[in-house]
Amino acid sequence: MPKLANIYLIFDFFINNADFRITRLRSYWADAEKKGAVESEHRYKLVNFCVYYVQRRLAFDYTARKFILKDARFKKNSVLTLKIISLALGMCYFQGNSEGVLSELKIMLRQYQNGAIASSLVVALNNFVEKSNFVVAEIRQKDEALALSIRYSCPRELVSHLISETGPEIAREILENSIKPPDAVFRLNCVRLHSRELRDDFLKQFGEKYLLDIKRVYRDMPLYSCDRNAFNFIVTELAEFKAGYLTPAGRSAFLAAYLLEAQPDDLILDACAAPGNKTTHIAELSSSAARIIAADISEAKIAKINDNIDRLKLSNIFTICASCEFLDADKLRNKFSSFGDETEIFDRILLDAPCSGLGLLRNRIELKYRFNASDLTNMPRLQYAILNNASRLLKKGGYLLYSTCTINKRENSGLVLEFLSANKNFRLISLKDKIKAFGYDFSVLNDDYELMQILPDGAGNEGFFYALMQKE
Ligand SMILES: C[S@@+](CC[C@H](N)C(=O)[O-])C[C@H]1O[C@@H](n2cnc3c(N)ncnc32)[C@H](O)[C@@H]1O
Repeated sequence: MPKLANIYLIFDFFINNADFRITRLRSYWADAEKKGAVESEHRYKLVNFCVYYVQRRLAFDYTARKFILKDARFKKNSVLTLKIISLALGMCYFQGNSEGVLSELKIMLRQYQNGAIASSLVVALNNFVEKSNFVVAEIRQKDEALALSIRYSCPRELVSHLISETGPEIAREILENSIKPPDAVFRLNCVRLHSRELRDDFLKQFGEKYLLDIKRVYRDMPLYSCDRNAFNFIVTELAEFKAGYLTPAGRSAFLAAYLLEAQPDDLILDACAAPGNKTTHIAELSSSAARIIAADISEAKIAKINDNIDRLKLSNIFTICASCEFLDADKLRNKFSSFGDETEIFDRILLDAPCSGLGLLRNRIELKYRFNASDLTNMPRLQYAILNNASRLLKKGGYLLYSTCTINKRENSGLVLEFLSANKNFRLISLKDKIKAFGYDFSVLNDDYELMQILPDGAGNEGFFYALMQKE
């Protein structure tokens, strides 16, 4: 696949860059294309390769060290040699053959090694990949967490955490799903495409224009996935996105607006709203009839909510930059003069809390490399403070939906149970009937529809947690 220029660029990316976000990858290769270093038909393939490699980097480093560089002659090899071999292994496995890789590899290696060693390394690599049939070998270690950590390129601490939360079998499944290619999912804006006919027409034309095989994700819900993965098909670059017909969405995150079930006259607080995916979805579902206050701590992110509101041409959403640890009725009255004297203001509150994000490993490929174990203990303090404060703003009889995109009891069920034991005037509401409407067999940690921990599944649903509470 790669020509030497491409190998240099791939190498350059992985040596000189520690930011593995997909957006960064895309812009790196888009720049290379602009400079004429990459042909446009290769760009997406190179992005796909980089994603594939980021998802498995530790496994290839380990394989390079253990099987290719094991010979005493190679022991003195530099870190750069290891990185080149690891990347070359990744390329061979990605392609399912070594075509185009070996000769380029030799030229690269000669910059760091003498000619004889470079040739021996190429032979050793070729023998190894052919013998392995281009299937990444099972990593054998007495320490199971370490083996999984290498195989799935995931910090050992994170693997141990997943095992302790879910048990070894489910943890392995989560990790296996985390190295599948990310996919592209979007929801349609039912305010602009307000009838089934309009939506069907739109999808037909959209599919024909971009050569997509579009599939509905859930029964009767306007959420769709397409047969191309997230990199060949960048939703936010499309004219249809800019014109407000569709919005990229997470499959499990999509549930939030349905579980909150806004009514036309409701006043709603979205307490951690940016960039506004759920705020705008709630507005779309209520046909802009519910009034929504969208709060976020970050001024820059509030701008993103406003952009999304404008793009989707929605009304009745009002933004406020504030920390919901401290937001109170006075602050709301200062900003929105229409509010009266009451302190319990909202009919419904969505608290989609900042969290450790462990449910998103498949799409946010950089998360494994940025994992910070202290989040697992620090996040609950912030989440509890926000939940506790926001709950005071809810009317009696009102509903509060708490959600996170993580798998961590302390941030999820543990936190909600702690809140409930200190706030006896709140009770959990079962999500069973609302979930049934999706006609989808969610992978859940247990059958509890009150504290619902959705696990990442093979179809692409991300890990998510939902708990709906009512104030009495
Ligand atoms: C998980 S994201 C929310 C995603 C959003 N609900 C959506 O669907 O687009 C969490 C958000 O909480 C915000 N946040 C963090 N601490 C906060 C606080 N104390 N008060 C309000 N917002 C906060 C972050 O800026 C971030 O935008």
